[in-house]
Amino acid sequence: MGVFITFEGPEGSGKSTQARLLYERLQAEGYPVILTREPGGTRIGELIRRILVDLRHTEMAPTTETLLFSAARAQLVSELIRPYLNTGGIVLCDRYADSTFAYQGYGLGRDLDELYAITAVATGGLMPNLTFYLDLDVEVGLARKRAQRERAEAPGASAAHPEWNRLDARDLAYHQRVAAGFAALIRREPERWRRLSALQPIEELAEQIYREVVPLITPVARLGSPV
Ligand SMILES: Nc1ncnc2c1ncn2[C@@H]1O[C@H](COP(=O)(O)OP(=O)(O)OP(=O)(O)O)[C@@H](O)[C@H]1O
Ligand SMILES: [Mg+2]
Repeated sequence: MGVFITFEGPEGSGKSTQARLLYERLQAEGYPVILTREPGGTRIGELIRRILVDLRHTEMAPTTETLLFSAARAQLVSELIRPYLNTGGIVLCDRYADSTFAYQGYGLGRDLDELYAITAVATGGLMPNLTFYLDLDVEVGLARKRAQRERAEAPGASAAHPEWNRLDARDLAYHQRVAAGFAALIRREPERWRRLSALQPIEELAEQIYREVVPLITPVARLGSPV
């Protein structure tokens, strides 16, 4: 069995940035590693993502939203994550089941035990070995995303346009309930989580994350290394 590592945190906290930096470093060091994201990561999952993030889908019922996230997750686990872990590799995932507990549970007020049950069906009970929480004030994260959007929209800009979707567009109180939800999840399982301040410079945060990951991946055979 390989090593499964996830990245969680509020909008704009640097999850995608840090997941990519860790992926590049582990890959350069010869580790068998893949990087994926939720919702999405598979052909079917990316189609489901499009439905979930579409700003026009204002009528989506919370149950529909929960089941669509879970459907995309079920596909990702069965098509990509489990098979790769079974080969002994390292899987990095940008958001995972904890996002459902925080966003649909604490954010939308869905019953947590029900969410745990649905998630267990979707994942077959697979949970990460380690989860990073990039801790950032909700308003700071949303401001980072706004700045990122403005940079992309400036005349002559070449920056890729960041996604601003149906879920980002929810109000501040919702995002604050989500952040409080993450804090509760961390209290429940402190040994799995590493909570790091996302206010630090990108490179420093990357170094901290790498140091936390090293003890876990030491047993993983590197590609091309003698058996
Ligand atoms: N440690 C940091 N300090 C300052 N800015 C950062 C830091 N990390 C990331 N950023 C910037 O914040 C913005 C959001 O980063 P990123 O897309 O990695 O966050 P995310 O958590 O994946 O966001 P989303 O919730 O949209 O998926 C980007 O413009 C990125 O360059
Ligand atoms: Mg991201």
